[in-house]
Amino acid sequence: MGGWARSWGAGGLVSRRRFVTGTFASALAGAVPLLGAPPAAAAPRSRGILLRARPTTVSLGKRTVRTWAYDDVVPGPQIRVMAGERVRARLVNELPAATTVHWHGIRLDFPMDGAPGFSQEATQPGKTFDYDFTVPDAGTYFYHSHVGTQPDRGLYGTLIVGDPREPLGYDEEFTVVLDDWLDGVNGTPDDALARLNASTDHDDTLRSEALGGVAAEMTHPFYLVNGRAPDAPTSFRTAPGRTVRFRVINAASDTAFRVALGGHSMTVTHTDGFPCRPVKVDTFLIGMGERYDFLTRLDSGAFPLVAIAEGKRGRAFAVVRTSSRAAPPASDVQVPELTERMLAYQDLQAPSSLDLPRPSRSIAVTLGMRPSGNEWTMNDKVASDHLRLRVDRGETVRLVVDNQSPMWHPMHLHGHTFQVRRPDGSGPRKDTVNIKPRQRLHLDVFADNPGEWMFHCHNLYHQEQGMMGAIGYGPAPANMGHRPQQHDRKPKHRR
Ligand code: C2O
Ligand code: CU
Repeated sequence: MGGWARSWGAGGLVSRRRFVTGTFASALAGAVPLLGAPPAAAAPRSRGILLRARPTTVSLGKRTVRTWAYDDVVPGPQIRVMAGERVRARLVNELPAATTVHWHGIRLDFPMDGAPGFSQEATQPGKTFDYDFTVPDAGTYFYHSHVGTQPDRGLYGTLIVGDPREPLGYDEEFTVVLDDWLDGVNGTPDDALARLNASTDHDDTLRSEALGGVAAEMTHPFYLVNGRAPDAPTSFRTAPGRTVRFRVINAASDTAFRVALGGHSMTVTHTDGFPCRPVKVDTFLIGMGERYDFLTRLDSGAFPLVAIAEGKRGRAFAVVRTSSRAAPPASDVQVPELTERMLAYQDLQAPSSLDLPRPSRSIAVTLGMRPSGNEWTMNDKVASDHLRLRVDRGETVRLVVDNQSPMWHPMHLHGHTFQVRRPDGSGPRKDTVNIKPRQRLHLDVFADNPGEWMFHCHNLYHQEQGMMGAIGYGPAPANMGHRPQQHDRKPKHRR
């Protein structure tokens, strides 16, 4: 097996830095578990991956920052496997704090979920943790730390699971990871959380109609595509006329992005890893933790791939180039597609083979905000005394999630892919879903994966301000729960 490999050789490093994936055909041919290894190398399928979490310095473009990352790169190394294969990843914690790796969206065995206080105790500095799990479903996933505000540092990377019977036809694929960045610029994410906990108001200028009101808690100084700010953008290079699959992942902490590719429409084929009926749009909104795959046939030229920080003033930006002669688009170029046909959840429908059984009962989950304005609740509970929804193996339950708080929330369930069910029975399979204020959604969950699974808001700051619950199988185990970091919480209106 060759033990734990530090990296993937020079080719791997180069590819990783450019973060442009190889063709799917080559991944199929060699069954290589990871990006960048030449297909001929025929690496063993369960070759170990080393993820060293440690303080480092990364360049976002013109700006260089101190942060915490995996293997000194942001995003971390891309992991590629085929559905049904095994991932063996050793976390080496060289951080000054405990950490874990969570495999977002993967229906894995509970002890491998990387959920501190639930599936494991966080790994202490100087220690290692071996993740070893089989990946059952193809699709676009990512991994990230699940401790405190660490995900708002550079502690995230992509996990791409190929389909051995890939039904889509395309020539090439690119992975697009979106992020909002403040670490090392405006202090650390812990400082940002402390500021929020001490603040008395929400920033009412950060508004979005598409998100139903206040869009975010804060502005981040940079918005990134694959670790790069708009002043030194990622460039995706290919040839004109090729059909490309874009895998878009929102790894941000507090930013929904509105994504468009200048001069092109997009055919959305997957959400949160799972296929949906193809739908043609010009733009889509992607919440934190969501993923969308789309296909597009590229024209000749150099095109802006933009991701507007919804309700904020910045954007993430990359260039898709199919001609070496074309002048590069400016990072602030107008992209008319951004205001044309936008994807709605109504448009998303899983193929009927992926419809879940009809639920036998429903469970009400009300999302709320305490008068302090900096505690977010699920059925009036916060993380330190978290809401636990009991299910039993084999049943399908309907979560009736009602947002009575004044902000939208991207709610994420670990270990399962629920169905966002419409009255006619249709609806997409997802693991993260945006719920606007005063909106109520029906999320049907098929309980087929025993464990204590976090169910929380993927706005990292809402999670740390209490919006963290769990779905647990059978009777509640003792001593399980999220341990938010300790910060002073000042009541909003002190008299
Ligand atoms: Cu991206 Cu609790 O996860
Ligand atoms: Cu939230």
